[in-house]
Amino acid sequence: ETVDVTGQFLLPGAIDVHVHFREPGYTHKEDWRTGSAAAAMGGTTTVFEMPNTNPPTRSVKELRQKQEAAAKAHVDYGIYGLLAEDNIDELQGLIDGGVNAFKCFMGNTFGNLPSPSTGAMLEGFEIIAPSGLRISLHAETASIMAWRQKRLMEAGRNDPLAHIAARPAIVAAEAVSRAAELAEWTGARIHILHISSAAELRPLAAAKARGVEITGETCPCYLLLDSRDYARLGSIIRVNPPVREASDSEAIWAALQSGVIDMIATDHAPHTVEEKTRDVIWQADCGFPGVETQMPLMLNEVSKGRMTLEHYVAISAENPAKSFGLWPHKGRIETGAHADIAVVDMNRTETIRAEALHSRGKITPFEGVSVTGVPIHTLVRGRFVQRDRKLVPETSGWGRQVTSIQAMPKPTIRNADQTLAASLQAPAITAEGAGP
Ligand code: DOR
Ligand code: ZN
Ligand code: ZN
Repeated sequence: ETVDVTGQFLLPGAIDVHVHFREPGYTHKEDWRTGSAAAAMGGTTTVFEMPNTNPPTRSVKELRQKQEAAAKAHVDYGIYGLLAEDNIDELQGLIDGGVNAFKCFMGNTFGNLPSPSTGAMLEGFEIIAPSGLRISLHAETASIMAWRQKRLMEAGRNDPLAHIAARPAIVAAEAVSRAAELAEWTGARIHILHISSAAELRPLAAAKARGVEITGETCPCYLLLDSRDYARLGSIIRVNPPVREASDSEAIWAALQSGVIDMIATDHAPHTVEEKTRDVIWQADCGFPGVETQMPLMLNEVSKGRMTLEHYVAISAENPAKSFGLWPHKGRIETGAHADIAVVDMNRTETIRAEALHSRGKITPFEGVSVTGVPIHTLVRGRFVQRDRKLVPETSGWGRQVTSIQAMPKPTIRNADQTLAASLQAPAITAEGAGP
């Protein structure tokens, strides 16, 4: 198989560490075939898939179920295990069973998985730290949001902007700083998902400065949309955490340029058109598909001169590969690496149409946006999964689960003698020998 790529760019395929493919349990929204087809069409060659399916990926039994569903993928994948209050005793099994990373919902969102207490999180971090696997955090503090939403609903607020009011930036900033504290105490590696505010950047940068193993991602919606888009888009724009002010997106752009934010991911979160378009904001499902539009949207920013192509490669492929244990086999085009490649035509202009997306979620806030810079072929380990803007359907099943190698030395557990496990094993103090 050959194609003429004269005048085109060969990029390492994007590595998206944040997608929701919904199977098992919510296949009316997406499944592994449709989700991974969308990835292939978007120049994304590896995805990390989230555990808020039904059942959630909470023990080895559900991990095996997910691996079975994932077997039809067009692209390579990592699988997240859940870290929740009620599966602490399953975490070691998930590690031994081959999860690639963990996800902890500090605030609840789609799937309504209850967020763990700080105590349960701390024990979870202690258990996961020695494995070196990264823990990705939905960093929003549940108790603050629940209180805010209750007060807003009592006051009868149900317009789209009420969604921001229920989740002010302190919700995210408080969660980031608390998670960083737990990571520092336990030596766990953590990752902050979907950075949406300027307020989160301070605790993130501070944690990095004191040596916490912490990385951060943002998503195209937080870079390209802001509060002025709520009137036009209504409930379609509803996502957790919310799209905020223009000053937030400016700060996020700057943090991406300076390296405080390490990577771009999508939080690909498909829902049906009906689930997304509701008159009352509280009834609309949160999120939208992203894995197929990320590369065109970001290459369009490259075309506009807002970032260099080299920097795009760093945030879309190199940095996620390094942070999630895939380097040096993925995230670069070199001898010895997998041939995971997006061939990009920087002169091609397309208009984003939800109807044409390969995801089952046929609704996007980027409807009608014209983009210049499009992945026209995608190869996964040397095989075309997209060719000339067409999916190669027979590559369903070509995708493989990746192996997370932790090239970095395992973190030192600073407080090993104070872990809950150590405390439970400590000899009990008896009254014997006590004086009169
Ligand atoms: O908007 C969101 N949708 N945020 C999340 O964190 C979860 C996601 C989903 O699964 O729908
Ligand atoms: Zn999330
Ligand atoms: Zn998500």
